[in-house]
Amino acid sequence: MNLNTVLLLASALFASTTTMAAEPALNGISLPEGYKDWRIIAVSHRTDNNTMRAILGNDKAIEAARKGQTNPWPDGVILGKLVWKDETDANWAAATVPGKFVHAEFMIKDARKFESTAGWGFARWLGEAQKPYGKDSNFAQECVTCHTPMKGNDFVFTHPAKLP
Ligand code: HEC
Repeated sequence: MNLNTVLLLASALFASTTTMAAEPALNGISLPEGYKDWRIIAVSHRTDNNTMRAILGNDKAIEAARKGQTNPWPDGVILGKLVWKDETDANWAAATVPGKFVHAEFMIKDARKFESTAGWGFARWLGEAQKPYGKDSNFAQECVTCHTPMKGNDFVFTHPAKLP
């Protein structure tokens, strides 16, 4: 085996064992690091498009949720929403479980930095390929518009789920 073959094999191995970082969203926001390990704030289920959602938060968000500091949420909070298509559990027909991954989306609270989008940096990545969503850097206006009915709740729909 010559050196080139060794290098080729090594780079193939490297490529197969590391996940490529997702491209940043078109408004410059990067996919929040470590979001897959965040804790849960609530869950939701949409019957109009048959999807289930986990609403997660970074440490700051969990702390704020536990203290009831959710209107407004403090700067530094990141809320994440992971969405899956509904699937019927293969072993229990009455159970609906997460199927195909649809998207991951985030709201990053920084009242000053994101003043033009209601104090939140909005971004979404599509599918398992985590392709940044949107046509151009203005895509977040669509997010803000749909979240505006929740203006009185800091533009957030989710209320932390009750815990014992
Ligand atoms: C068509 C309306 C609509 C649009 C457009 C929309 N959202 Fe939402 N969003 C909702 C609703 C309704 C909820 C709460 C219910 C749920 O979990 O789906 C929500 C919840 C969220 C949450 C969890 C926190 C919360 O407010 O409850 C995040 C994060 C989020 N959206 C991000 C985004 C981002 C990023 C965009 C734009 C790329 C976006 N949303 C666009 C309707 C919308």
